[in-house]
Amino acid sequence: MQLETIREKFPITRNYNFQNHAAIAPMSAPAAEALIEYAREMSEAAYLHGTYYRAADRVRAAAAKLINADPEEVTFVKNTCEGINYIANGVQWLTRDNVVTTAMEFPANIYPWMALEQRGVRLLRVEDEDGRIPFDRIAAAMNNRTRLVTVSAVQWSNGFRMDLTRLGELCKEKGVLLFVDAIQALGVHPIDVRGMNIDFLSAGGHKWLTSPEGTGLFYCKRELCEHIKPPEIGYMCMKHPFEHDLSKFGWHELHDDARRFDSGVYNLAGICALGASIDFLLEIGIAEVQVRVKQLTDLLVEGLRSKGWRVHSPRTASEWSGIVSFSSQKHDTDKIRKHLREEFKIVVAKRLHRLRASPHFYNSTEEIRQLIDALPPG
Ligand SMILES: Cc1ncc(COP(=O)(O)O)c(C=O)c1O
Repeated sequence: MQLETIREKFPITRNYNFQNHAAIAPMSAPAAEALIEYAREMSEAAYLHGTYYRAADRVRAAAAKLINADPEEVTFVKNTCEGINYIANGVQWLTRDNVVTTAMEFPANIYPWMALEQRGVRLLRVEDEDGRIPFDRIAAAMNNRTRLVTVSAVQWSNGFRMDLTRLGELCKEKGVLLFVDAIQALGVHPIDVRGMNIDFLSAGGHKWLTSPEGTGLFYCKRELCEHIKPPEIGYMCMKHPFEHDLSKFGWHELHDDARRFDSGVYNLAGICALGASIDFLLEIGIAEVQVRVKQLTDLLVEGLRSKGWRVHSPRTASEWSGIVSFSSQKHDTDKIRKHLREEFKIVVAKRLHRLRASPHFYNSTEEIRQLIDALPPG
């Protein structure tokens, strides 16, 4: 698809040079149209022309395709944390079990596990070395009481990408569960839960999936579903959700797939929008999106370095991502961030005292050059 056609699907390009997809991304036009369509239909006909639950099943299938799972292994969440909590509070922990993670995680992937100290479960955090988590340190942190490893596929601060294939192999070999917070990767980097031996995954839709806040997807490997006790019990998690004769079925007759994590009705408006964005990304092809984001971020890194800015993001073939973190001792990063927005309508973020740019596949090389040109020498 031509870049111009793609950019038409992102109306924000008319107003801003937006390079902040690691924060709250703009909604794609297909997502916005799906929301409008849902609102129109539900305001004019309620459910009388048919139910949106069929559409939700199509979105479930598309989400499953995105991560190479079966549709039954996927359900919807309102954010990444919700899926993290399903597992943190659903595993049958034993006192003195431990969970291994990294010291770089976004707090969403820390607090739910930290709170397990109430149940005698320890959280072990592996320190980084110059912005990357050495694989051997994770292996060394694991011991015979390690039940689960939880990592972000891509780190929020500097964009370090974890080698999930290698980590999945290690976890499988040691009989340890693997949870992946995929919000900073999904929509740019191919994630294959089967090929990577990922047991659980959660990702909000509002970053690289260009969907509304309040949407997201959650994956639980089929054979593990029945071993996880859903922290919330409703009726949609039941095999017979609308059964009123309670003498026939008990509360424990839960779905034996990912729907056991559902409680009541779905956020159908959001799910339709999420589905429209996922369909669009799949139409382009995730491999194609990834190639484009690599080209754009390579151009950015090169331009930043040649202007004297220090780039903090690992950029090797297995570690790069769509997040580029940079700084200069000569400048106040907050002032620069404001100046870029006010003078040039260029949107980047400030994280951990550094500037963070995160362009998506629809940004143009011209927009990357504009950012480099707008920055003072570092
Ligand atoms: C790695 C990571 N996980 C999770 C989140 C957000 O979590 P939630 O979707 O629960 O708001 C962010 C947001 O910046 C993030 O970078």
